[in-house]
Amino acid sequence: MPRILTRTPMFKLALLTGGSSGIGLAVARELVKSGSSVILVARRPEVLAEAKASLEKDSSNGARVRILVLDVSDPEAVDRDLIKCLDEAGTPDLLYNGAGITYPNHFESIPGDIFRRIMDINLGGTWNILSAVIPRMKAAGGGTVVNVSSMSGLLGTYGYTAYAASKFAQVGLSQSLRNEMKPDGIDVRVLCPSDTDTPQLIEEEKTKPDETRKITGNAKVMTPEFVARTLLKGLRGRQFIIIPGFMGKVGWLAYRFFPWLVHFVFDNDVRSVRSRN
Ligand SMILES: NC(=O)c1ccc[n+]([C@@H]2O[C@H](COP(=O)([O-])OP(=O)(O)OC[C@H]3O[C@@H](n4cnc5c(N)ncnc54)[C@H](OP(=O)(O)O)[C@@H]3O)[C@@H](O)[C@H]2O)c1
Repeated sequence: MPRILTRTPMFKLALLTGGSSGIGLAVARELVKSGSSVILVARRPEVLAEAKASLEKDSSNGARVRILVLDVSDPEAVDRDLIKCLDEAGTPDLLYNGAGITYPNHFESIPGDIFRRIMDINLGGTWNILSAVIPRMKAAGGGTVVNVSSMSGLLGTYGYTAYAASKFAQVGLSQSLRNEMKPDGIDVRVLCPSDTDTPQLIEEEKTKPDETRKITGNAKVMTPEFVARTLLKGLRGRQFIIIPGFMGKVGWLAYRFFPWLVHFVFDNDVRSVRSRN
């Protein structure tokens, strides 16, 4: 009788906030291809439905795609709707906290309510989802958590005051949580991509200052598929901070060991833009 070889998926069930688009959708695609079932969480139902239909074409080994319309920044909705969804679907062994927004601009042009919205979604949303999922993961004996920060969570770049504040906080939250969850078998990681070709990057172009464009312009824009594959490869290894791409790693190492050099280069870029304008 012929033997049917099946690959065991890395995860049985993954919950992905921000899974309807960009990096989150690419991670979900890699997962369903390998046979993991996924739950995609986002606000816009039509984008979620489109993502579900496209993932179902790529799913293997009976991987199932569920969607949940939810604003992660609303703790009551998370308590009500996510808990109901997990009661039906089960406890995820991978939680990917990727829901996020940004608004690059000069500090004086970022209204306080936009700053608070960025913090509420990028940081508060992660907190709300963790609060619902961590007790279940503990009860299930463990799991993996990926919180999505950014290179802007390691290195504050011109124009990203509000976003960097939320993404640095994401790194701090993840680092503390990693140390606290390790004895419970929960493996916490943080993903720090630089510019990646997604709808968010296109949206950023509307308000991004010229100085920011100049500073970030030297780095190659990554594809969401590359970021997703780097993440899943990184999860097989041990590094806590996963930085996709050569330029990201170099930027981070340069800033850690030679911060004065990075400031010098950034300041020069800003000066050259200002002298042009
Ligand atoms: N693209 C980059 O260059 C880059 C670089 C570093 C880090 N990142 C981070 O990577 C993550 C994904 O970004 P992306 O570039 O892939 O952007 P994207 O394509 O715009 O995806 C963002 C996702 O988050 C969801 N979302 C936003 N606000 C939400 C909320 N309040 N509740 C639930 N879902 C929400 C969006 O769906 P709805 O709008 O329908 O809710 C969408 O699914 C973000 O955390 C971002 O900050 C991106």
